[in-house]
This record gives sequence, structure tokens and C-alpha cells, in this order.
Amino acid sequence: MKMHAYAGAYSNRPAMYIHKEDAHNDKDPMAKVTFIYGDQTKEVEAENGKTLLQIGLESDVPIENACGGNGFCTTCMCNVKKGMKNLSERNAREENMGIVNDPERLTCQAEVQGDCTIELIDF
Ligand code: FES
Repeated sequence: MKMHAYAGAYSNRPAMYIHKEDAHNDKDPMAKVTFIYGDQTKEVEAENGKTLLQIGLESDVPIENACGGNGFCTTCMCNVKKGMKNLSERNAREENMGIVNDPERLTCQAEVQGDCTIELIDF
């Protein structure tokens, strides 16, 4: 979707339109997410912008989530095996729970932005 901003309303210059492309237009909107849990591996196509927890639960991957995905329990913690750069940056909830070092992330807080492989902990 293109957004237009009128940039000539309050000047003597001729009117011009600025086209602002949607941030996701130049990227593939889908990512390949691989979950490793126990002796099982499941690879799924997922919409960028969803959390690992959302994607996992929608795909029947059994991810613990005692606090309901609110970042207060760490039961959803995982190790990122590949693609850490394809996840959103750590947020304050992860840092408050002590999840500050690679490869650990909370699946309920990490949003997918590209392909990645994660391993569930304590499975
Ligand atoms: S579900 Fe509780 S921290 Fe992620």
C-alpha cells in the first residue's frame, strides 16, 4: 500500500507528492521457522511480525507459556540456533527476566522478521 503526504500546502513551491512505500514491500512477508523440540523438528511458513510463540502454538508446537505470553515467567525460553538477526531486538521484558545473552530468547517476545531455527529448552 502506498501512502501519500502532501508536501506543498504551506509553501510557495509547487505541490509535490511523496510516496512512502510500506516497510514490508521490499521484503518477503513470509519466513521459514524451524522448531526443534525433544527429538522432533518442525518447519513452518510464518507471517513476519508474529512472535515465535504465536507461530509455534498455531503450528501445534508444544511451547510452555505459563504467563500467557506476557514475558513474566520464562517458561517459553528457547535457544536460537540460526537467524538471531532475523528476530526483533530484545525488549525490556526479556531484559527484566534476565534473558540478555545469546542464544537465549523468550519466544513470546521475539518477533519473526526472517528465517530462523530455534530449540525449545527443557523439553
Ligand atoms: S510465556 Fe511467559 S515469558 Fe513467555
